[in-house]
Amino acid sequence: MKKIGILTSGGDAPGMNAAIRAITKTAIHYGIQPIGVLDGFEGLMNGWFKNMNYEDVDNIIQRGGTVLGSARAPKFKEKEARKEAIEHLEKAEIEGLIVIGGDGSFTGAHVLSSEMNIPVIGIPGTIDNDLYGTETTIGYDTALNTIVEAIDKIRDTATSHKRIFFVEVMGRNSGFLALNSAIASGAESVLIPETISDIEAIALQIKNQNKGRRSSIIIVAEGDEEGGAMDIMRKVKPHLKDYELRTTILGHIQRGGSPSFYDRSLATRSGIKAVELLMEGNTKKMIGIKSDELVTIDLKDAIDKNAFPKIEKEELLAKLLTK
Ligand code: F6P
Repeated sequence: MKKIGILTSGGDAPGMNAAIRAITKTAIHYGIQPIGVLDGFEGLMNGWFKNMNYEDVDNIIQRGGTVLGSARAPKFKEKEARKEAIEHLEKAEIEGLIVIGGDGSFTGAHVLSSEMNIPVIGIPGTIDNDLYGTETTIGYDTALNTIVEAIDKIRDTATSHKRIFFVEVMGRNSGFLALNSAIASGAESVLIPETISDIEAIALQIKNQNKGRRSSIIIVAEGDEEGGAMDIMRKVKPHLKDYELRTTILGHIQRGGSPSFYDRSLATRSGIKAVELLMEGNTKKMIGIKSDELVTIDLKDAIDKNAFPKIEKEELLAKLLTK
């Protein structure tokens, strides 16, 4: 194997740069030329490639985002667009591809691999943590820390003014960020897409919890079936006339920032492993982490299977939290 491609795709996540760095250094160590694909699958379709060397990955381990750039590339679902990507990959003589991203990115990689017979390895990189086959994805820990830090600040002002805050966190269709930030910030309630939200019950709960307290924090996952934090606040308002309610949407600050120790370490270990897997002749695999050991699962399973069963324990905690 002489050349391998590195691509970051989907929503960026803190720690992606640490993975790019590890892949680049490991590849060079084994005499392989790493090629950075710029702007995810968009770059693949346009042949935006860059030879990577040690200097390119200097001082990036501590930086959030991705130095390669990322994009949502719906066009990649079209066969014609993928044909262009294949031509560019063949012309550049790239013999293996490492994709850092979420399940959408892995779906693209999987299809590509079948169509041109190029080996692909996936590294989970998304703050949402919504992937089957791994306990943690790159960026999740940093995002959680960012959320908890923000909620601590909101708690200060909420307590001073005797207010109830609805704080919206990311997570599209999954409640990992909401649930675990709720536990770590001592939130009074949490609403996640995996459970059914009953507005009247929520309002009653808030009243009961707020007794004898100066503040309440309700964390709302953006994908909750009753809507985001603003919608929930509007819906409970008629039931909570005597209370002062406020909303904060944390938004994209959750995706940025310097990666935590955990994300740097996970990304570095996964990056090294990805190069070694390619060198050993593996393809269509995803690297996960379980009980602090790196594991390898079929990319197809990561795409098809549901990440939710792993939150059984957290669901229980959610119920306890909202009692
Ligand atoms: O996939 C990560 C994520 O941050 C989700 O939590 C969120 O719903 C989405 O990306 C936002 O995407 P964009 O930045 O493209 O609007």
